[in-house]
Amino acid sequence: MKPLAIIGGTGIDELEGLEVLRDHAVQTPYGEPSRAIQEGRLGAASIYFLQRHGSPNATPPHKINYRANLWALRSLGVDGIVAINTVGGISQSMRPGRLLIPDQVIDYTWGREHSVDEGSEGALMHIDFTEPYDRELRLKLLAAANATGIPNASSGVHGVTQGPRLETAAEIQRMARDGCDVVGMTGMPEASLARELGVPFACICMVVNPAAGIGDLPLSITTMREILVREAAVVRQLLSGLLVQRGDA
Ligand code: HPA
Repeated sequence: MKPLAIIGGTGIDELEGLEVLRDHAVQTPYGEPSRAIQEGRLGAASIYFLQRHGSPNATPPHKINYRANLWALRSLGVDGIVAINTVGGISQSMRPGRLLIPDQVIDYTWGREHSVDEGSEGALMHIDFTEPYDRELRLKLLAAANATGIPNASSGVHGVTQGPRLETAAEIQRMARDGCDVVGMTGMPEASLARELGVPFACICMVVNPAAGIGDLPLSITTMREILVREAAVVRQLLSGLLVQRGDA
């Protein structure tokens, strides 16, 4: 079985428990990925890990070289990618501390290099994106969450904004009317690039704050960080459960 790749987001700089065996500094037709990709072992499982914001320099969401990141992971021969995204909660049940395995996405980003189709290969790349996340990988994530007793929402719409600023209250109201359950800044074009490149892709959203204008409290970076630390530990547990579900561990 080929290894799984994990893309870590804010608050997941390293994958705790990962025994790093090698760093892969991959060159791609689109330039360099955010950071060298770590190859390692998590328990008995081989996996690859990439921090999408790089480290120690944090690349903001709109400056991430998503194409290089996804291309590099595919070039290493991974057979699936699970991306971890921090998000704000829009719908009532999406309170801080909640995990969502989304099944839909709405893309509000602009100006990002969002396709590997440069128009020179002949056939145009109109990928089917009706279901943006890989069904099988999602089901395995959900099975892992159930097996490990991790509460989660098993479907929901991931709205992706351009950032790096947070949204206005009116923008969040519009997103709620559109049907978004959570809002983040890094979910696209990651998901569609993975589809273009033919790699199964799923995502775990960690809700770290109520989105702008939702709830009474002002957005607090300190509170977000505290929640992030707690949720990151749960996500690590979920990933270990996923590796068991896949038969890697
Ligand atoms: N909006 C956009 N992205 C985010 C948020 C938010 O409220 N929280 C964490 N990432």
